[in-house]
Amino acid sequence: MIDNKKVLFSGMQATGDLTLGNYLGALKNWVTLCDEYECFYSVVDMHSITVRQDPAELRKRARNLLTLYIAAGLDPEKNCLYYQSHVSAHAELAWILNCYAYMGELNRMTQFKDKASKHTENINTGLYTYPVLMAADILLYQADVVPVGKDQMQHLELCRDVAQRFNGIYGEVFTIPEGYLGKIGAKIMSLQEPEKKMSKSDENTNASIYLMDDPDTIMRKCKRAVTDSKACVSYEEDQPGIRNLLDIYCACTDKSTQEAVLEFEGKGYGDFKSAVGESVISVLLPIQTRFKELSTDKAYIDQIIKANAEKANYYAQKTLRKVQKKVGFPERIR
Ligand code: TYM
Repeated sequence: MIDNKKVLFSGMQATGDLTLGNYLGALKNWVTLCDEYECFYSVVDMHSITVRQDPAELRKRARNLLTLYIAAGLDPEKNCLYYQSHVSAHAELAWILNCYAYMGELNRMTQFKDKASKHTENINTGLYTYPVLMAADILLYQADVVPVGKDQMQHLELCRDVAQRFNGIYGEVFTIPEGYLGKIGAKIMSLQEPEKKMSKSDENTNASIYLMDDPDTIMRKCKRAVTDSKACVSYEEDQPGIRNLLDIYCACTDKSTQEAVLEFEGKGYGDFKSAVGESVISVLLPIQTRFKELSTDKAYIDQIIKANAEKANYYAQKTLRKVQKKVGFPERIR
């Protein structure tokens, strides 16, 4: 608890261009939860280097992501928006937690298996212990709730297991976090292969809508989305493409699936896809406009980066000191 409010932590990687999946699965929910909780939203640049990055490009993307957090509606006066690499406690706690996480647990992580198969030339230990760093991110702030998309739930489970194990040995050190999945949009699928999740790293750019896509591109991608030959807008197992477009439409308009299905009863896929495109444009365009305005104000963003890193450091250090004491590190002499 901070000032009688429960704590929320989440983060996003600054690699690749953010997709509509990142927005609907995570960022959109962050904005709705930010009044209820004391929130920490990190740009997790330390996670990003588990895959080779161009340094200048990573720096630029990290700054753009932080700016995008604000553009999407997170007030930097109320929410702590910061770079993970500006708070060294993340790395320090991750090391300690590495000594309490089992290889057997990490071996089961599907994201590791998936990434390792894609980056066979660079299966580094960072990629392997990535979920432990993620656990450190969350536990450092004693987070009660962690809003993520479905693909991160396995990592969150690991975080809970490690925290419970640690508490079992040393007493109530960590708050055990709960995951938070949005009702709709927790797993947005590829527009071209709707059995696969929409991903920043998809080589087929038609498979993903990027947050910075212009309206024509968004509409074109929606119109080209793979569907089926049933010619009926319904939420059925055997219509993964239509289901995904319905999820996108509902998440963008805040309508229920039932309402949306009724709305498109008797209408063709062409009309439906246009409506989906319009709904996405109406959500993304204001964010893009705000992003462009904010990007020109260097001093404002710099000041947020500095002030929020200080705030994050303050809370992170509190937990880290407690953990260091529990595991038996000598006290500092002042
Ligand atoms: P990342 O950067 O891959 O994704 C950021 C968020 O977007 C969600 N997401 C999706 N949601 C719905 N449909 C999709 N197609 C889709 N694709 C991505 C992700 O679930 C995530 O919530 N390891 C994390 C970042 C991280 C983190 C943390 C998150 C590091 N430390 C601590 C929470 C708490 C990641 O790589 O997310």
